[in-house]
Amino acid sequence: MEQRFSGILSEEYCLFELACPYFSEMRMQIKEIVKNHCQHYAQEKIAVLEIGFGLGPTTSFLLNSEPHILVTAIDNEPKMVEQAKENLKNFIKAGRLKLIEEDALQFLQSVASNSFEACVSSFTIHNFEQDYRNKLLKEIYRILKSNGLFVNADKCASNNAAEHKAALEWQLEQYKKVFEKKELVSEWIAHDLEDEKESRILREKQFLEQLKKIGFKEVNKIFRKRLHATVTATK
Ligand SMILES: C[S@@+](CC[C@H](N)C(=O)[O-])C[C@H]1O[C@@H](n2cnc3c(N)ncnc32)[C@H](O)[C@@H]1O
Repeated sequence: MEQRFSGILSEEYCLFELACPYFSEMRMQIKEIVKNHCQHYAQEKIAVLEIGFGLGPTTSFLLNSEPHILVTAIDNEPKMVEQAKENLKNFIKAGRLKLIEEDALQFLQSVASNSFEACVSSFTIHNFEQDYRNKLLKEIYRILKSNGLFVNADKCASNNAAEHKAALEWQLEQYKKVFEKKELVSEWIAHDLEDEKESRILREKQFLEQLKKIGFKEVNKIFRKRLHATVTATK
């Protein structure tokens, strides 16, 4: 099982925002989109699945936005899970949040079809290799209820190669400018260069096509800034 956030990247993950100033804005977009989607439902409980919760920022935005939302959130990195358990302890105590330490695909394969009203993810799905990602997206489609919502705010390469190259150069420069620890700079640069490999890169055009091929409808990119984009789709 791959764990690309062990060591200093998870220990100092909270610093990433310094190098990517619109990071929280994208997580808040998820909250707004899910909140709007909740208006379609009259029931007491709205089940949301989150893939790769990290320290829990998106989880907390979601749970604060709408009292009917219950979140099941998955992450496979023990140091992230430990920090998130502390950050989100009030939601766990209130019975509104289940944090699960497991590989995302393995977890999804254990879930019954048509189980969730929404599935969200922030800055996680781009980390996966193509084959794993395709399996994961198919599973997300399967576990969503009819008309269920999928939102992914993520690193996602622009269709314009020159724009993507400039965005990548900007991001790598940011690491050098804002992080004091040399190890953190080199780890983030290595991480971002690994994301560029053909076996892994998430490209906007292919991503939208992939979702449509799986069966998602209303597939839209609703936001782009430099290396990052937010995509929504429904089942
Ligand atoms: C870049 S962080 C994003 C965290 C959080 N969503 C946020 O917005 O800050 C990606 C997270 O995905 C988790 N992750 C990566 N691969 C995973 C996998 N195969 N299964 C579950 N979680 C995974 C990592 O441990 C990490 O916490």
